[in-house]
Amino acid sequence: MSRLKELRKYVDAEVNKMEDADKRTSAISHLYGVSLAAQMIAKKRGQDPELAAMAAMLHDLHAYKTGSYDDHAHKGADLAREILGELKLTDDKETDLICSAIYHHDDKLVTDGAMDEVLKDADVIHHCMNDLSKAIKEKEQARFDKLCMEFGL
Ligand SMILES: [Fe+2]
Ligand SMILES: [Fe+2]
Repeated sequence: MSRLKELRKYVDAEVNKMEDADKRTSAISHLYGVSLAAQMIAKKRGQDPELAAMAAMLHDLHAYKTGSYDDHAHKGADLAREILGELKLTDDKETDLICSAIYHHDDKLVTDGAMDEVLKDADVIHHCMNDLSKAIKEKEQARFDKLCMEFGL
């Protein structure tokens, strides 16, 4: 089994513990949607698509597990480090890359490292394109416009 598949199995089991069926569905749809977008963006930018997808699968898990978005990026990075340590799918350098991307993913108005930016942009793609009738958040508009330029949309 690929390590992405193995991680997804773990994440699926965690998300399936959520009691609310609608929240469960939107959690799965968001994690898999961001994960697909992250692979596409990473491939375009010469970053590692597999690691990008793995970061995406874990990026909001802390919020889903606790029901709170309070500081979920920073707390989510710690949770991801625990999970990756337990599953032993990554080496130290890969774990750091994934956890850094999760740590920074809510800082949409600043520019961080290349892999951090892949996850932020993938998150924005899913927020903005999962339902095109929904208004784009002000803090995501500039990033979304830049992505549309980059991908010729
Ligand atoms: Fe988030
Ligand atoms: Fe997200």
